[in-house]
Amino acid sequence: MGEIRCIGVLTSGGDSPGMNAAIRAVTRASIYNGIEVKGIVRGYKGLITGEVVSLKTQDVSNIVQRGGTILKTARSAEFQTGEGMQTAWQTMQREGIDALVVIGGNGSLSGAREFAGVYDFPVVGLPGTIDNDLYGTDVTIGYDTALNTIMEATDKIRDTASSHDRLFFIEVMGRDAGFLALDGAIAAGAEGAIIPEIATEVDQLADLIQNGFRKSKKSSIVLVAESEITGGAMGLAERVKTEYPQYDVRVTILGHIQRGGSPTANDRIVASRMGAAAVTALLDGQRNVMIGIENRQIVYVPFSKALHMDKEIDRDKLDIIKTLSI
Ligand code: F6P
Repeated sequence: MGEIRCIGVLTSGGDSPGMNAAIRAVTRASIYNGIEVKGIVRGYKGLITGEVVSLKTQDVSNIVQRGGTILKTARSAEFQTGEGMQTAWQTMQREGIDALVVIGGNGSLSGAREFAGVYDFPVVGLPGTIDNDLYGTDVTIGYDTALNTIMEATDKIRDTASSHDRLFFIEVMGRDAGFLALDGAIAAGAEGAIIPEIATEVDQLADLIQNGFRKSKKSSIVLVAESEITGGAMGLAERVKTEYPQYDVRVTILGHIQRGGSPTANDRIVASRMGAAAVTALLDGQRNVMIGIENRQIVYVPFSKALHMDKEIDRDKLDIIKTLSI
């Protein structure tokens, strides 16, 4: 394996708070180790179009606290074609990039794995997604900030729910994973969470209502994961209107507010540790791994595991919500 003299870094897929802290960490840890850093603009798209910038220490000043990504991000269909990947590889060669750090979610890291598989070069991934759906890491970069946003929004909606004795469905992001809904419900003291992981096993809405989630309360808040499998907040509200017309039901879809904003201290720390670990991993000769954090320790998760195993949701948390919402 050749010596690594220049590391390329890119963000791909949906932006998440803390991506900037990760870019900063990759940049500074590389420079600290005497390695040149290049930022690729707009993810894989930028590799195809050749949008590459040199990153120096001062280029990543004053960004640890900023949401979004200074490198911009995109989802590139072209990169998934053989031709697109070849053009991306030509850019890497032209720019003298020996190794890549890819910050993104499942799709982005899968792209990295395939790319490195075809052209045989070192790549390390950082889990950058608010969804927290990557196997092998307790947290992903952006999850904590999104969770706090959900908690704050739910706190506000509770004022109206309780003033009007209403049932609110609050739809949160997560794609096909229920982590945000589940942890958001606990953090905000919601009466229920409806998540895709168990949607095919039980009728969660009927369960909630039959278990008397209004035994001692006149209002209730249920966090719903956006997945089609749950029916989404709109679908559930429609069901309530016909099956349980006694409830005054309302829907709030939080949407992209969950992706933005200044990262929490936790996300900044996670991103900084992971970014530095990515550089160490590359210098240690590791490749095809995702950096994770498990039990507070940095771990190196082979892509084959991180991308092909399902991260299990903690079902005990549903019991906690039920127990605490009486
Ligand atoms: O993966 C992050 C995420 O925010 C998901 O939770 C959501 O389903 C999706 O991205 C939305 O993507 P877009 O911003 O492209 O609409």
